[in-house]
Amino acid sequence: MINRKNITEVFTPRQSEVNDDMYVERPRHEKALKRALNRNSHSLVFGESGNGKSWLYKKVLSENSIPHVIANCANASRLKSITQEICNCIIEPGTVNKLGFNEEKVAEINAYFAKGGLKHNSNYDIAQEEPLLKAFRVFHESNDSKKIIVLDNLESIFDSVELMNELADIIILLDDERYSTCNINFLIVGVPSGVLQYFSETKNVESVSNRINEIDKVVGLDSGQVMEIVKKGFDQLAIKITGEKLIQLARQVYFITLGIPQRVHEYCESLAYEIEDNDWKYERSLWTKANIQWLKQGLRQSYNVIDCHWGNRSTAVARKNQVIYCIGNISTHQFDSKKIDAMIRVEFPSTIPKTNMGIGSILSKLSEGTTPLLNKSDNNYSIRDPRFLMCIRTVIYKDASKQTVIKKNFKV
Ligand SMILES: Nc1ncnc2c1ncn2[C@@H]1O[C@H](COP(=O)(O)OP(=O)(O)O)[C@@H](O)[C@H]1O
Ligand SMILES: [Mg+2]
Repeated sequence: MINRKNITEVFTPRQSEVNDDMYVERPRHEKALKRALNRNSHSLVFGESGNGKSWLYKKVLSENSIPHVIANCANASRLKSITQEICNCIIEPGTVNKLGFNEEKVAEINAYFAKGGLKHNSNYDIAQEEPLLKAFRVFHESNDSKKIIVLDNLESIFDSVELMNELADIIILLDDERYSTCNINFLIVGVPSGVLQYFSETKNVESVSNRINEIDKVVGLDSGQVMEIVKKGFDQLAIKITGEKLIQLARQVYFITLGIPQRVHEYCESLAYEIEDNDWKYERSLWTKANIQWLKQGLRQSYNVIDCHWGNRSTAVARKNQVIYCIGNISTHQFDSKKIDAMIRVEFPSTIPKTNMGIGSILSKLSEGTTPLLNKSDNNYSIRDPRFLMCIRTVIYKDASKQTVIKKNFKV
């Protein structure tokens, strides 16, 4: 009997709980986060969506047995109150049982919200009755060690002045002795990078940013880590891919997903289904089908953007397509027309005229219109959305013999 897990248990692009069997270590981020959590200050973790922020903090918190609750800013936004979301998390039945809370106090907090909850204004009422303080005490009394309240998905309140002010108020409030004796710190997690900037520019709260310690941005995985996911995943599915084939596959997955963990899982999931349909036998020829499935799942819009910049005839247009191909093969974040010009000369030597190729104006055009492909700043360009890059890498090929580039079409 072959011992094979379900594909959906192995590749889990959208699963919020950590799967220990698939988790790849991220020593640099883990160490930075652990140190930040040990300090007596609040911490901030940020990075693009899908880069593994939530898995990272969950792993570090559980590995170090740090008592914590996880509040979701998307709920806070729905409830129009961060305080209420935090209280809800602390007194949630699961937490109450797990951390052995004082039931009586939990009931009091519950009663408070049942009565209609918070109608707070910007001035915090820090009387004994204050529900946040009560919730903090409940949390504190459960255990002596330091505790963390995670505020995940900060991006969902970043545009709400009211909730961001509430957050600032709470952070200041935590310095108040009644709160600080509870030994609780926040871990703020989200996409936007300008959070500290935001706090330092908002009036009255210049001190907030000083109380928060920002750790290095959570970036994509490196090629070795992508290899680990590919290897662990297909092993657990009892799909044999070894040696050179494995290296080749991992390299391809890294290239088109840019090492973004969520995308790595997504891509491997698509490929795993193709392998299943092929009698559980892996072949390189399955990549093409997997690519299309993967694009259809999450990259339709990006594909449309590439499509609308794609040229279909004349030589000028063929040059534009060569430019798009080269953009897909650049490893640096920023580039200029000289760099693309030089790449075209190497990649398509038989198509080079004696005159100027006009790469500058092609790049300019690609940064214009309603759906620009590139950002332009001075004479430097960068791709507007990493998904555009994934898409170019998946659908655009070079036909070496004819020195042209080809786009794989698919119905979107
Ligand atoms: N360290 C990791 N090892 C393996 N897979 C990971 C890792 N981190 C994230 N993933 C995968 O990426 C997905 C998205 O990660 P998540 O932590 O939710 O990202 P974020 O919170 O930054 O949006 C997860 O569901 C999981 O499939
Ligand atoms: Mg997350």
